[in-house]
Amino acid sequence: MTAFQPRVFSGVQPTGNLHLGNYLGAVSRWVPLQNQMPAIFCVVDSHAITAGFPDPSELTNATREVTAAYMAAGIDPKKSIIFNQSQVREHMELAWIFNCVARMGWLNRMTQFKEKAGKNKENASVGLFAYPNLMAADILAYRATHVPVGDDQKQHLELTRDIAAKFNNDFGARIKELGIGVPNPTPSPELPEELYFPLTEPMIAGPATRIMSLRDGTKKMSKSDPSDLSRINLKDDADAIAKKIKKAKTDPDALPSETDGLEGRPEADNLVGIFAALNGMSKDDVLKEYGGQQFSAFKPALSDLAVAKLAPMTDEMRRLTGDPAQIDAILKEGAENASAIAEPVLKDVRKIIGFLDVR
Ligand code: TYM
Repeated sequence: MTAFQPRVFSGVQPTGNLHLGNYLGAVSRWVPLQNQMPAIFCVVDSHAITAGFPDPSELTNATREVTAAYMAAGIDPKKSIIFNQSQVREHMELAWIFNCVARMGWLNRMTQFKEKAGKNKENASVGLFAYPNLMAADILAYRATHVPVGDDQKQHLELTRDIAAKFNNDFGARIKELGIGVPNPTPSPELPEELYFPLTEPMIAGPATRIMSLRDGTKKMSKSDPSDLSRINLKDDADAIAKKIKKAKTDPDALPSETDGLEGRPEADNLVGIFAALNGMSKDDVLKEYGGQQFSAFKPALSDLAVAKLAPMTDEMRRLTGDPAQIDAILKEGAENASAIAEPVLKDVRKIIGFLDVR
Protein backbone atom coordinates (compact mmCIF):
# COMPACT_ATOMS: atom_id res chain seq x y z
CA MET A 1 0.00 0.00 0.00
CA THR A 2 1.35 3.39 -0.88
CA ALA A 3 -1.12 5.40 1.19
CA PHE A 4 -3.84 4.77 3.73
CA GLN A 5 -7.18 4.20 2.07
CA PRO A 6 -9.51 6.94 3.35
CA ARG A 7 -12.21 5.28 5.41
CA VAL A 8 -14.90 6.50 7.81
CA PHE A 9 -15.75 4.59 10.99
CA SER A 10 -18.22 5.56 13.68
CA GLY A 11 -20.71 4.01 16.07
CA VAL A 12 -23.46 4.46 18.63
CA GLN A 13 -24.15 2.36 21.73
CA PRO A 14 -27.46 0.51 21.80
CA THR A 15 -28.39 1.73 25.26
CA GLY A 16 -31.69 3.44 25.97
CA ASN A 17 -33.20 5.83 23.52
CA LEU A 18 -31.33 7.53 20.74
CA HIS A 19 -31.70 11.26 21.21
CA LEU A 20 -31.30 14.47 19.28
CA GLY A 21 -27.65 14.79 20.42
CA ASN A 22 -26.77 11.41 18.89
CA TYR A 23 -28.58 12.36 15.71
CA LEU A 24 -27.26 15.90 15.22
CA GLY A 25 -23.79 15.31 16.69
CA ALA A 26 -23.14 12.03 14.89
CA VAL A 27 -25.57 10.06 12.70
CA SER A 28 -26.90 12.94 10.57
CA ARG A 29 -23.31 13.98 9.80
CA TRP A 30 -22.43 10.48 8.59
CA VAL A 31 -24.96 10.57 5.77
CA PRO A 32 -23.09 12.85 3.33
CA LEU A 33 -19.76 11.15 4.15
CA GLN A 34 -20.88 7.83 2.70
CA ASN A 35 -20.74 9.46 -0.74
CA GLN A 36 -17.20 10.70 -0.19
CA MET A 37 -15.33 7.59 0.96
CA PRO A 38 -15.95 4.00 2.07
CA ALA A 39 -17.75 4.07 5.38
CA ILE A 40 -18.46 1.66 8.23
CA PHE A 41 -21.17 2.32 10.83
CA CYS A 42 -21.23 0.06 13.82
CA VAL A 43 -23.82 -0.59 16.52
CA VAL A 44 -21.37 -0.94 19.39
CA ASP A 45 -23.13 -3.58 21.49
CA SER A 46 -19.93 -4.67 23.23
CA HIS A 47 -19.52 -1.17 24.61
CA ALA A 48 -23.10 -1.29 25.90
CA ILE A 49 -22.25 -3.92 28.54
CA THR A 50 -19.47 -1.91 30.22
CA ALA A 51 -21.75 0.01 32.59
CA GLY A 52 -23.61 -3.16 33.66
CA PHE A 53 -25.33 -5.83 31.56
CA PRO A 54 -28.66 -4.53 30.24
CA ASP A 55 -31.69 -6.81 30.14
CA PRO A 56 -30.79 -9.26 27.30
CA SER A 57 -33.94 -8.77 25.27
CA GLU A 58 -33.64 -5.00 25.64
CA LEU A 59 -30.09 -5.15 24.31
CA THR A 60 -31.26 -7.19 21.32
CA ASN A 61 -34.12 -4.76 20.61
CA ALA A 62 -31.95 -1.68 21.05
CA THR A 63 -29.40 -3.13 18.61
CA ARG A 64 -32.11 -3.47 15.95
CA GLU A 65 -33.51 -0.07 16.82
CA VAL A 66 -30.17 1.72 16.40
CA THR A 67 -29.69 -0.08 13.08
CA ALA A 68 -33.14 1.15 12.01
CA ALA A 69 -32.24 4.68 13.12
CA TYR A 70 -29.08 4.63 10.98
CA MET A 71 -31.11 3.65 7.94
CA ALA A 72 -34.01 6.00 8.67
CA ALA A 73 -31.49 8.84 8.94
CA GLY A 74 -30.22 8.03 5.46
CA ILE A 75 -27.37 5.53 5.85
CA ASP A 76 -27.69 3.28 2.84
CA PRO A 77 -26.61 -0.32 3.52
CA LYS A 78 -25.82 -0.70 -0.18
CA LYS A 79 -23.21 2.05 0.09
CA SER A 80 -21.98 1.69 3.67
CA ILE A 81 -21.29 -1.24 5.95
CA ILE A 82 -23.72 -1.45 8.90
CA PHE A 83 -23.10 -4.17 11.49
CA ASN A 84 -23.11 -4.91 15.19
CA GLN A 85 -19.75 -5.02 16.90
CA SER A 86 -20.03 -8.37 18.69
CA GLN A 87 -20.32 -10.17 15.33
CA VAL A 88 -16.79 -9.30 14.29
CA ARG A 89 -14.36 -10.99 16.68
CA GLU A 90 -11.40 -8.94 15.48
CA HIS A 91 -12.57 -5.99 17.61
CA MET A 92 -12.11 -8.04 20.78
CA GLU A 93 -8.78 -9.47 19.75
CA LEU A 94 -7.32 -6.10 18.84
CA ALA A 95 -8.75 -4.58 22.03
CA TRP A 96 -6.77 -7.11 24.08
CA ILE A 97 -3.60 -6.22 22.24
CA PHE A 98 -4.34 -2.54 22.84
CA ASN A 99 -4.84 -3.29 26.54
CA CYS A 100 -1.16 -4.13 26.40
CA VAL A 101 -0.25 -1.01 24.39
CA ALA A 102 -2.17 1.66 26.35
CA ARG A 103 -0.72 2.77 29.68
CA MET A 104 -2.67 2.90 32.94
CA GLY A 105 -1.81 6.59 33.20
CA TRP A 106 -3.46 7.32 29.86
CA LEU A 107 -6.71 5.65 30.87
CA ASN A 108 -6.62 7.21 34.33
CA ARG A 109 -7.00 10.58 32.62
CA MET A 110 -10.22 9.71 30.77
CA THR A 111 -12.91 12.10 31.99
CA GLN A 112 -15.75 9.93 30.71
CA PHE A 113 -14.61 7.05 32.93
CA LYS A 114 -14.51 9.38 35.91
CA GLU A 115 -18.01 10.66 35.13
CA LYS A 116 -19.47 7.21 34.51
CA ALA A 117 -17.75 5.47 37.41
CA GLY A 118 -18.71 8.30 39.76
CA LYS A 119 -17.68 8.06 43.39
CA ASN A 120 -17.64 4.30 43.40
CA LYS A 121 -14.62 3.74 41.15
CA GLU A 122 -13.63 0.51 42.90
CA ASN A 123 -16.91 -1.04 41.87
CA ALA A 124 -16.74 -0.05 38.17
CA SER A 125 -16.13 -2.91 35.74
CA VAL A 126 -12.66 -3.38 34.26
CA GLY A 127 -14.47 -3.14 30.91
CA LEU A 128 -15.60 0.40 31.67
CA PHE A 129 -12.01 1.37 32.44
CA ALA A 130 -10.61 -0.30 29.31
CA TYR A 131 -13.50 0.95 27.13
CA PRO A 132 -11.35 3.47 25.18
CA ASN A 133 -9.01 0.63 24.13
CA LEU A 134 -11.96 -1.21 22.59
CA MET A 135 -12.97 2.01 20.85
CA ALA A 136 -9.46 2.34 19.42
CA ALA A 137 -9.69 -1.27 18.27
CA ASP A 138 -13.04 -0.58 16.55
CA ILE A 139 -11.44 2.15 14.51
CA LEU A 140 -8.03 0.63 13.85
CA ALA A 141 -9.25 -2.88 12.95
CA TYR A 142 -10.26 -1.14 9.70
CA ARG A 143 -7.31 1.27 9.69
CA ALA A 144 -10.02 3.95 9.48
CA THR A 145 -8.79 7.47 8.80
CA HIS A 146 -11.86 9.60 9.65
CA VAL A 147 -14.11 9.38 12.70
CA PRO A 148 -17.16 11.69 12.86
CA VAL A 149 -18.39 12.02 16.46
CA GLY A 150 -19.71 14.52 18.98
CA ASP A 151 -17.42 16.58 21.18
CA ASP A 152 -17.65 14.17 24.15
CA GLN A 153 -15.60 11.57 22.22
CA LYS A 154 -12.64 13.87 21.57
CA GLN A 155 -10.48 12.53 24.38
CA HIS A 156 -11.13 8.93 23.30
CA LEU A 157 -9.97 9.78 19.79
CA GLU A 158 -6.80 11.36 21.13
CA LEU A 159 -6.16 8.12 22.99
CA THR A 160 -6.75 6.20 19.75
CA ARG A 161 -4.02 8.29 18.12
CA ASP A 162 -1.70 7.69 21.08
CA ILE A 163 -2.24 3.93 20.81
CA ALA A 164 -1.62 3.99 17.05
CA ALA A 165 1.52 6.08 17.54
CA LYS A 166 2.94 3.80 20.25
CA PHE A 167 2.25 0.65 18.23
CA ASN A 168 3.83 2.19 15.12
CA ASN A 169 6.87 3.22 17.15
CA ASP A 170 7.32 0.06 19.20
CA PHE A 171 7.11 -2.14 16.10
CA GLY A 172 8.52 0.33 13.55
CA ALA A 173 11.46 -1.85 12.47
CA ARG A 174 9.34 -4.98 12.29
CA ILE A 175 6.62 -3.24 10.21
CA LYS A 176 9.29 -2.12 7.75
CA GLU A 177 10.98 -5.52 7.64
CA LEU A 178 7.65 -7.24 6.86
CA GLY A 179 7.01 -4.72 4.06
CA ILE A 180 3.52 -3.90 5.30
CA GLY A 181 3.99 -0.27 6.32
CA VAL A 182 2.52 2.81 4.69
CA PRO A 183 4.63 5.98 4.32
CA ASN A 184 3.64 8.39 7.07
CA PRO A 185 1.53 11.01 5.24
CA THR A 186 2.62 13.70 7.72
CA PRO A 187 6.26 12.88 8.56
CA SER A 188 7.42 13.88 12.03
CA PRO A 189 10.46 13.13 14.19
CA GLU A 190 8.19 11.36 16.72
CA LEU A 191 7.12 8.65 14.30
CA PRO A 192 8.83 6.14 12.01
CA GLU A 193 8.75 6.75 8.25
CA GLU A 194 6.38 3.85 7.76
CA LEU A 195 3.26 3.24 9.80
CA TYR A 196 0.93 0.31 10.14
CA PHE A 197 -1.95 2.19 11.78
CA PRO A 198 -3.07 5.63 10.56
CA LEU A 199 -3.35 8.51 13.00
CA THR A 200 -7.10 8.91 12.78
CA GLU A 201 -8.64 12.33 12.10
CA PRO A 202 -11.42 13.23 14.53
CA MET A 203 -14.27 14.96 12.67
CA ILE A 204 -15.98 17.14 15.28
CA ALA A 205 -17.57 20.12 13.57
CA GLY A 206 -20.75 22.09 12.99
CA PRO A 207 -23.28 23.76 15.27
CA ALA A 208 -24.24 20.54 17.10
CA THR A 209 -21.06 18.95 18.43
CA ARG A 210 -22.42 19.23 21.96
CA ILE A 211 -26.21 19.41 22.32
CA MET A 212 -27.14 20.30 25.89
CA SER A 213 -29.98 19.17 28.13
CA LEU A 214 -33.25 21.06 27.56
CA ARG A 215 -33.56 21.44 31.34
CA ASP A 216 -30.03 22.69 32.03
CA GLY A 217 -27.89 24.33 29.36
CA THR A 218 -24.69 23.44 31.21
CA LYS A 219 -25.31 19.66 31.11
CA LYS A 220 -24.93 17.46 28.02
CA MET A 221 -28.10 15.93 26.55
CA SER A 222 -27.74 12.31 27.54
CA LYS A 223 -29.51 8.96 27.49
CA SER A 224 -28.86 8.54 31.18
CA ASP A 225 -30.47 11.79 32.39
CA PRO A 226 -33.34 10.72 34.69
CA SER A 227 -35.59 13.48 33.28
CA ASP A 228 -37.11 12.58 29.93
CA LEU A 229 -37.90 16.29 29.49
CA SER A 230 -34.15 16.91 29.22
CA ARG A 231 -33.89 15.28 25.79
CA ILE A 232 -35.74 14.78 22.53
CA ASN A 233 -35.76 11.08 21.73
CA LEU A 234 -35.85 9.99 18.11
CA LYS A 235 -38.94 7.96 18.97
CA ASP A 236 -40.86 10.94 20.43
CA ASP A 237 -44.06 11.85 18.61
CA ALA A 238 -44.95 15.39 17.50
CA ASP A 239 -46.82 16.17 20.74
CA ALA A 240 -43.92 15.07 22.92
CA ILE A 241 -41.44 17.11 20.88
CA ALA A 242 -43.64 20.22 21.07
CA LYS A 243 -44.14 19.79 24.82
CA LYS A 244 -40.44 19.36 25.53
CA ILE A 245 -39.45 22.42 23.50
CA LYS A 246 -42.20 24.47 25.13
CA LYS A 247 -40.92 23.45 28.57
CA ALA A 248 -37.24 23.90 27.65
CA LYS A 249 -35.42 26.19 30.04
CA THR A 250 -34.60 29.66 28.68
CA ASP A 251 -33.73 33.10 30.00
CA PRO A 252 -35.98 36.17 29.94
CA ASP A 253 -34.11 38.09 27.20
CA ALA A 254 -34.85 38.24 23.47
CA LEU A 255 -32.50 36.42 21.09
CA PRO A 256 -29.40 38.41 20.15
CA SER A 257 -28.67 39.37 16.55
CA GLU A 258 -25.14 37.92 16.57
CA THR A 259 -23.53 34.80 18.02
CA ASP A 260 -21.39 36.87 20.44
CA GLY A 261 -24.60 37.68 22.25
CA LEU A 262 -25.11 33.98 23.05
CA GLU A 263 -22.12 33.97 25.35
CA GLY A 264 -23.12 33.29 28.95
CA ARG A 265 -26.59 32.21 27.77
CA PRO A 266 -26.17 28.41 27.52
CA GLU A 267 -29.87 27.61 27.03
CA ALA A 268 -30.30 30.18 24.26
CA ASP A 269 -27.09 29.02 22.61
CA ASN A 270 -28.29 25.41 22.73
CA LEU A 271 -31.69 26.08 21.16
CA VAL A 272 -30.15 28.22 18.42
CA GLY A 273 -27.58 25.47 17.76
CA ILE A 274 -30.33 22.85 17.52
CA PHE A 275 -32.28 25.03 15.07
CA ALA A 276 -29.15 25.59 12.98
CA ALA A 277 -28.21 21.91 12.85
CA LEU A 278 -31.73 20.74 12.06
CA ASN A 279 -31.99 23.23 9.21
CA GLY A 280 -28.44 22.78 7.88
CA MET A 281 -27.50 26.41 8.55
CA SER A 282 -25.11 28.31 10.83
CA LYS A 283 -26.05 29.92 14.16
CA ASP A 284 -25.34 33.30 12.53
CA ASP A 285 -27.98 32.61 9.89
CA VAL A 286 -30.51 31.63 12.55
CA LEU A 287 -29.86 34.85 14.45
CA LYS A 288 -30.15 36.93 11.27
CA GLU A 289 -33.69 35.61 11.05
CA TYR A 290 -34.70 35.45 14.71
CA GLY A 291 -32.44 38.06 16.40
CA GLY A 292 -34.55 40.41 18.55
CA GLN A 293 -37.41 37.92 18.87
CA GLN A 294 -38.65 36.45 22.14
CA PHE A 295 -38.55 32.73 22.94
CA SER A 296 -42.34 32.77 22.74
CA ALA A 297 -41.92 33.26 18.98
CA PHE A 298 -38.74 31.20 18.49
CA LYS A 299 -39.85 28.09 20.34
CA PRO A 300 -42.90 27.34 18.14
CA ALA A 301 -40.70 27.79 15.03
CA LEU A 302 -38.13 25.38 16.49
CA SER A 303 -40.82 22.94 17.43
CA ASP A 304 -42.32 22.95 13.90
CA LEU A 305 -38.88 22.48 12.39
CA ALA A 306 -38.00 19.60 14.74
CA VAL A 307 -41.28 17.83 14.03
CA ALA A 308 -40.92 18.34 10.26
CA LYS A 309 -37.38 16.91 10.29
CA LEU A 310 -37.82 14.12 12.84
CA ALA A 311 -41.34 12.78 12.22
CA PRO A 312 -40.57 11.14 8.84
CA MET A 313 -37.54 9.51 10.42
CA THR A 314 -39.52 8.23 13.38
CA ASP A 315 -42.11 6.75 11.02
CA GLU A 316 -39.40 5.05 8.98
CA MET A 317 -37.76 3.67 12.14
CA ARG A 318 -41.10 2.21 13.20
CA ARG A 319 -41.59 0.65 9.78
CA LEU A 320 -38.10 -0.86 9.76
CA THR A 321 -38.27 -2.28 13.30
CA GLY A 322 -41.54 -3.96 12.29
CA ASP A 323 -39.47 -6.33 10.17
CA PRO A 324 -36.64 -7.59 12.40
CA ALA A 325 -35.67 -10.31 9.89
CA GLN A 326 -34.80 -7.65 7.34
CA ILE A 327 -32.68 -5.75 9.86
CA ASP A 328 -30.89 -8.94 10.86
CA ALA A 329 -30.16 -9.71 7.20
CA ILE A 330 -28.60 -6.27 6.75
CA LEU A 331 -26.50 -6.71 9.90
CA LYS A 332 -25.38 -10.15 8.74
CA GLU A 333 -24.20 -8.91 5.38
CA GLY A 334 -22.55 -5.94 7.10
CA ALA A 335 -20.70 -8.22 9.53
CA GLU A 336 -19.41 -10.34 6.66
CA ASN A 337 -18.17 -7.29 4.78
CA ALA A 338 -16.61 -5.82 7.93
CA SER A 339 -14.84 -9.13 8.73
CA ALA A 340 -13.40 -9.21 5.23
CA ILE A 341 -11.58 -5.94 6.02
CA ALA A 342 -10.63 -6.63 9.64
CA GLU A 343 -9.38 -10.23 9.26
CA PRO A 344 -6.31 -9.39 7.14
CA VAL A 345 -5.50 -6.49 9.49
CA LEU A 346 -5.44 -8.83 12.50
CA LYS A 347 -3.38 -11.32 10.53
CA ASP A 348 -0.80 -8.58 9.98
CA VAL A 349 -0.94 -7.52 13.62
CA ARG A 350 -0.32 -11.09 14.84
CA LYS A 351 2.63 -11.32 12.47
CA ILE A 352 4.01 -7.95 13.63
CA ILE A 353 3.81 -9.03 17.27
CA GLY A 354 5.33 -12.44 16.58
CA PHE A 355 2.42 -14.71 17.55
CA LEU A 356 3.23 -18.14 16.10
CA ASP A 357 0.75 -19.00 13.36
CA VAL A 358 0.24 -22.75 13.19
CA ARG A 359 -3.20 -22.93 11.55
P1 TYM B 1 -22.52 7.24 22.34
O1 TYM B 1 -23.33 6.03 22.06
O2 TYM B 1 -22.51 7.77 23.72
O3 TYM B 1 -22.97 8.43 21.38
C1 TYM B 1 -23.04 8.25 19.98
C2 TYM B 1 -22.62 9.50 19.25
O4 TYM B 1 -23.44 10.60 19.64
C3 TYM B 1 -22.63 11.69 20.06
N1 TYM B 1 -23.33 12.41 21.13
C4 TYM B 1 -23.58 13.72 21.10
N2 TYM B 1 -23.31 14.67 20.19
C5 TYM B 1 -23.73 15.93 20.45
N3 TYM B 1 -24.39 16.27 21.59
C6 TYM B 1 -24.69 15.35 22.54
N4 TYM B 1 -25.36 15.69 23.64
C7 TYM B 1 -24.28 13.99 22.31
N5 TYM B 1 -24.41 12.85 23.03
C8 TYM B 1 -23.83 11.89 22.29
C9 TYM B 1 -21.35 11.05 20.57
O5 TYM B 1 -20.28 11.96 20.57
C10 TYM B 1 -21.18 9.93 19.58
O6 TYM B 1 -20.56 10.40 18.40
N6 TYM B 1 -17.82 5.57 22.59
C11 TYM B 1 -18.87 5.98 21.68
C12 TYM B 1 -19.26 4.92 20.67
C13 TYM B 1 -18.13 4.30 19.93
C14 TYM B 1 -17.44 4.86 18.83
C15 TYM B 1 -16.47 3.90 18.45
C16 TYM B 1 -17.57 6.05 18.13
C17 TYM B 1 -17.55 3.09 20.20
N7 TYM B 1 -16.57 2.82 19.30
C18 TYM B 1 -15.58 4.12 17.40
C19 TYM B 1 -16.69 6.29 17.08
C20 TYM B 1 -15.73 5.33 16.71
C21 TYM B 1 -20.12 6.30 22.49
O7 TYM B 1 -20.30 5.83 23.57
O8 TYM B 1 -21.01 7.06 21.82
